[in-house]
Amino acid sequence: MTSNKSSDSGLSKFHRLLVDQVRHELTASHQYVAIAAWFDTQDLPQLARVFYEQSLEERDHAMMLVRYLIDRDIDFAFPGVDEIETEFAAPRDLVALALRQEREVSDQFQRLAKVSRDEDDYTGEQFLQWFIQEQVEEIAKMSTLLNVMDRSYGNLFDVENFVARDMPSEDKGSQDAPTTAGPSVS
Ligand SMILES: [Fe+2]
Ligand SMILES: [Fe+2]
Repeated sequence: MTSNKSSDSGLSKFHRLLVDQVRHELTASHQYVAIAAWFDTQDLPQLARVFYEQSLEERDHAMMLVRYLIDRDIDFAFPGVDEIETEFAAPRDLVALALRQEREVSDQFQRLAKVSRDEDDYTGEQFLQWFIQEQVEEIAKMSTLLNVMDRSYGNLFDVENFVARDMPSEDKGSQDAPTTAGPSVS
């Protein structure tokens, strides 16, 4: 990575998409911290905790991709983040947004996998496997939370109880997770 690089035109399509993915993961991290702060403001500490933690996980995902790009000597420009949503009417909207976001990220990794194969980048393809598996878990988690919310019929204390009981803070990182650039925060 060079400090004054303004385009990634010399990169393979796979590496360009990987740099885009750094931006998507950082955007997801930023979106989750906004969601967490909203729940925090509404005095829903358990929901806030889940999303504060999720935000840190997304940051780690971004930095795992950065570690890979650096280790493979890819000369890339560090991306910024996209706009996030900050206007929410009801608690359900935030969880629905989170689920939508996870589905998009999952599609992005499927596309990355396809491109790595098209370009015969088997090292890249192998690197993606952990992320593809991780997305299955993240979609399931948000999907469950949305179902619980819908079944609580607006009783957010029930949702808070469910989250406290069934969505505990996860242990630090998973054993087989790729290494982050800099310290892991989740
Ligand atoms: Fe992620
Ligand atoms: Fe995620």
